[in-house]
Amino acid sequence: MKALILSGGKGTRLRPLTYTGAKQLVPVANKPILWYCIESIVAAGITDIGIVISPETGEEVKSKTGNGDRFGANITYILQDTPSGLAHAVKISQLFLGDDSFIMFLGDNLIESELNKFLANFQQKRLDALILLSQVADPTAFGVATIDLEGRVIRLIEKPKQPESNLALVGVYFFKNTIHSAIANIAPSARGELEITDAIQQLIDTNQKVEADELEGWWLDTGKKDDILAANQIVLDARLKSQNLGDIDSDSNISGRVEVGLSSKVISCKIRGPVIIGENCHLEHAYIGPYTSISDRVTIIDTDIEHSVILCDTKITGIHQRIVDSVIGQRVSMKVSPKRPQALRFLVGDDSQLEIM
Ligand code: TTP
Repeated sequence: MKALILSGGKGTRLRPLTYTGAKQLVPVANKPILWYCIESIVAAGITDIGIVISPETGEEVKSKTGNGDRFGANITYILQDTPSGLAHAVKISQLFLGDDSFIMFLGDNLIESELNKFLANFQQKRLDALILLSQVADPTAFGVATIDLEGRVIRLIEKPKQPESNLALVGVYFFKNTIHSAIANIAPSARGELEITDAIQQLIDTNQKVEADELEGWWLDTGKKDDILAANQIVLDARLKSQNLGDIDSDSNISGRVEVGLSSKVISCKIRGPVIIGENCHLEHAYIGPYTSISDRVTIIDTDIEHSVILCDTKITGIHQRIVDSVIGQRVSMKVSPKRPQALRFLVGDDSQLEIM
């Protein structure tokens, strides 16, 4: 059994951040989304992992993630020249996959459940494909499945106008090697991509065994800013522990679960957890409210912020009208004068400079 993580793609919905970086490396609770995928695959006992990368962001993914040693895995990188669809990503990974069965994991998806139970079901029933489904309020934005009473999948439709169910396809799939001939028999869709839903439909149409399991617990597809904030909130809620490896002065007031990283300084601040602060940060006269993640080497002075994700090496000063619901890129510089009363809401790409006068 192998695993294939898809970490290429265009990332159009997360521009401008994705002009300069991989969306799968955007941190949730200060850890790249991609790393959660790797960890959950390794936790299921699979250590032979291929990661599909794009020419634009592949080097960054490779250099941050490495050869897999830190995860107890062996990672092979597979370059996909063009973002021509999820099934195309599988097609170009055939050399790596060989005849093995594999888990395919979209590198921007996060799920609460462990994979073991689904893997056991896939293997025991000798399925050609096992897909995971989750009930959603608006199925029109997803791949939607129709299943029979035994859990067999009858039909998959990509972003249907009139959905037959509220069961959306989660970005985690289990495949036998029969998926390769199914992919060989499909044509690009109207949007020019080889769709994995078409390949699975091809398996169904040729009477192969395709079943679905419904996911328990949360599932997050972090394609947009608000999805990242939701993921950040859920992961901080579920997994953050209080820990101080930095230097918090006696004028600061800390409550709730707060993690402060190595060599970070907190001076005269009010922090209301859950909050995570990375290494080598400088926080002074700041209010940091719940569900905020601050990456390494960030400076925040005379600023109020909550429910936000700040990437590394960014500097924010003088913003006392509260920053909320924001994702702010790497190496950004933000300052405001004079004081204004409104709340501020941002999605700021890397290397931006904002002065609000
Ligand atoms: P999507 O989120 O469906 O596509 P995208 O990343 O191009 O984003 P957007 O729709 O905002 O333009 O992709 C799901 C995951 O699969 C994501 O981690 C990127 C990856 N992917 C590939 O590796 N190769 C591909 O050809 C495609 C389409 C996606």
